[in-house]
Amino acid sequence: MTPILLIGNGAREHAIAEAFKKNENAKLYSFMKARNPGIEKLSEKIQIGSYSDIDAIKLFALNVKADFAFIGPEEPLANGVADALEGIGVPCVGPKQKLAQLETSKSFTRNLLEKYHISGNPKFKIFNNKNKNEIKKFLDTLPAVVVKPDGLTGGKGVKVQGDHFQAKDEALKYCEEALLTHNSVVVEEKMDGVEFSLQCLTDGKTVVLTPPAQDHKRAYEDDKGPNTGGMGSYSAENHLLPFLKKEHVNEALKITKQVAQALYLELKQHYKGVMYGGFIITKDGVKLVEYNARFGDPEAMNILPIMKTDFVAVCEAIIDQKLDSIEVEFENKATVLKYAVPKGYPDAPVKDRIAVMEIPKEARLYYASVDERADGLYMTGSRAIGLLGIGNTIAEAEKIAEKATEAVKGNVFHRKDIGTEELIGKRVRKALSFK
Ligand code: GLY
Repeated sequence: MTPILLIGNGAREHAIAEAFKKNENAKLYSFMKARNPGIEKLSEKIQIGSYSDIDAIKLFALNVKADFAFIGPEEPLANGVADALEGIGVPCVGPKQKLAQLETSKSFTRNLLEKYHISGNPKFKIFNNKNKNEIKKFLDTLPAVVVKPDGLTGGKGVKVQGDHFQAKDEALKYCEEALLTHNSVVVEEKMDGVEFSLQCLTDGKTVVLTPPAQDHKRAYEDDKGPNTGGMGSYSAENHLLPFLKKEHVNEALKITKQVAQALYLELKQHYKGVMYGGFIITKDGVKLVEYNARFGDPEAMNILPIMKTDFVAVCEAIIDQKLDSIEVEFENKATVLKYAVPKGYPDAPVKDRIAVMEIPKEARLYYASVDERADGLYMTGSRAIGLLGIGNTIAEAEKIAEKATEAVKGNVFHRKDIGTEELIGKRVRKALSFK
């Protein structure tokens, strides 16, 4: 038997739990901050607690005699849970705190690429309270800008010109505000293009690709409305995307391999876990938007359900730094994931009770930001239920996912356009315009 500690309570972790449970020797013990009924069902035992309660996580790991831990979300990674668990002899898939700066510090990552001459950075500068007088001058050199406060901001800190603000003096004001609560702020040139997510697995030496996916950040159809954690995503049966060529993937993989090596040179620690790059195809080629130190949510659901290789063996290879000795394979299937989210999400979500009916047998359902209470299933304010279609084509997968959304009853909405030909066509036309 392989006792595994899983930390996290979202749909991403539900998909991770499902991937582990394909191995009949896997015994899952889950530490969650809210009761996710999907993860609970797959677990031998669960514990509800805070991701900053390091002692409780360590005690749970020792009690269940975990062979290893998988750390799903960014919050425990940022809190140093991997360092704490490794300190008591529980190896982790998920980077230690310093390595997790790849996600938690936007300035760390931009500086790393620059120092090691790795391509992918846009024009950028980092400002703090000492050099803040120079912000205006730099803003004036760029056609349009993005402002990123340094540190975890729960996906809410990044502000983009044209989306969140219009004029440069608003950018300046936001930088000054951010510097009241953050040590530094990164100001970057806004990149125009088509984004894709590339989630790579690494043991710190070898970097392995998984199929690329595309997320949809805006709340409403046709990419309108406020930014969210991601309303849904898709992947294609050929492990590319309709607008994405093999050379784009190769370039993003090359960057990720160089970054993994640079992380080791810089911090003298091997990164073991997921390096999820948000990349963008621009007129100047593939650029890096940002890295995350974990699987994407929803993108984890585009890859784990079609992974053919035993995920327990993959994680063990990451821990033992033997990723070069196994083949990580995926089915040639397309996937479309649509999130049912609370009405009012993301600004004023209702936290009502919902009911989940039976889904069509070809679909899969992942519980996300919900809490199972004595009187039923409640939404907790973020994305509630992920519905996945797997098919031979994106169109087939989209129909399955769309049908499955009917199973969620209550005050929810979802984006009908994710995975549709019309929306994907727009992305293809945009990418073609760079030729
Ligand atoms: N797909 C967005 C994220 O995981 O951060």
